[in-house]
Amino acid sequence: MASEPVNVNEFRELAREVLPKMYYDFYTGGAEDQHTLNQNVDAFRRIMLRHRVLVDVSRIDMSTIMIAPTARHQLAHPEGKVATARAAAACNTIMVLSNISTCTVEDVASSCNAVRNILLVYSFLSFYPAYWGSSHQMLSAEKSGDKAIVLTVDAPRLGRREADIKNRMVAPQLKNFEGILSTDANSLYDPSESTCLSMWMTLTLHDEGSKVEAFVKETFDASLCWEPSVKILFGCLNEWLRSPCDVRDPATVPNGYIPSLQVREAERLNRNENSSAARIAEQFLPLLRRVCMQDIEWLKSITNLPILIKGVLTHEVARKAVEVGVAGIVVSNHGGHQLDYTPTTISVLEEEVDAVGGKVPVLLDGGVRRGTDVFKALALGAQAVLVGRPVIYGLAANGEHGVRRVIKMLKDEFELTMALCGCPGVMDITRSHVRTECDKLH
Ligand code: FNR
Repeated sequence: MASEPVNVNEFRELAREVLPKMYYDFYTGGAEDQHTLNQNVDAFRRIMLRHRVLVDVSRIDMSTIMIAPTARHQLAHPEGKVATARAAAACNTIMVLSNISTCTVEDVASSCNAVRNILLVYSFLSFYPAYWGSSHQMLSAEKSGDKAIVLTVDAPRLGRREADIKNRMVAPQLKNFEGILSTDANSLYDPSESTCLSMWMTLTLHDEGSKVEAFVKETFDASLCWEPSVKILFGCLNEWLRSPCDVRDPATVPNGYIPSLQVREAERLNRNENSSAARIAEQFLPLLRRVCMQDIEWLKSITNLPILIKGVLTHEVARKAVEVGVAGIVVSNHGGHQLDYTPTTISVLEEEVDAVGGKVPVLLDGGVRRGTDVFKALALGAQAVLVGRPVIYGLAANGEHGVRRVIKMLKDEFELTMALCGCPGVMDITRSHVRTECDKLH
């Protein structure tokens, strides 16, 4: 690209120029027909602004743009999430850190130690209790003074990303999962830590389909649910069988420790009626049931951090989330990366805001590419927005500096929009500042 980018969309072209096709497709692509992916952006374009004039906007206050959790930043740039986190700190922006990462949470946190205002929020894709239990993620998150956990609930399985399937997508090993994954799952990954390009070149040549899909199938726990879960029962049972604790004494039950990857093993044992596990299960079923908890309840029991859930698109889920005591919701369709033909996030935002009735904050992501988009989301009731792909494009184009520029561009555009709409502060942005297609009908 000949000239310097002047908006975040132009970073996409820069990313295309530097990234291997496989990785560019992974970041830009969506599920199946990519309808939701494309509509996310278009839906913002259909909302018009109703600006006010003759308002003193000489001092603008705004702090509402965050970085969405996205996987594998090292495919975009060798410094990966460390560079993104530094940029977030420099821009005084919250970064929601995905656990699907080629560097550990500790790497990211320690690289930002020098910068005081970094605020990392840890995002956990799917519910993966083995990971929670046996790594010290939760503890290290709390120790380093971080502020929240985001539980992503819209990915019990991977969306069908056809570009990745065609490209036979491969990716480097995930550092956060080291020592936890089964050998089979780990072998789906590239053991080398070399450059993106060489990983791409050496690993696309064999095997069918997307390795990422195979990895998720192997490791993610698709049984995350609102109901008290039988997997907890199996998990505890299996844990007891492995360790010399007294199954009759609830005090020795590991505190919510649910080794999810061992669940399958326990289930297998339980299917065999003659196995010792089956006999113990029968004997201690009532006791086991007492330690059975609803998934989010369990999560709350092992951390003091507020828990937000990400991936909400209906009022039913928004209400349920408030009922179970989450601290906030993120209206998200995973940037069209999961289920195609889900509604655009901006079109359902008001429904979610009404459903939570001001009890918890509502955030939104998906298709935010302009400062005007941020403004529209806030006018329709979001407290903040998260930006996914543009951050990766900035990272690919120019590492930490590229991410800084993306965030700054969005902030500058948002500030200008506020000024031109006559809003000196975010609290001044109201529903009457936008006109949606529904408004036109009435
Ligand atoms: C994602 N997203 C995502 N979400 C999450 O909770 N954990 C993750 O690891 C990832 N990884 C990921 C990778 C890639 C390549 C994409 C495109 C998306 C979803 C992400 O948080 C966010 O919801 C969308 O990216 C927002 O849409 P935009 O801004 O990309 O349009």
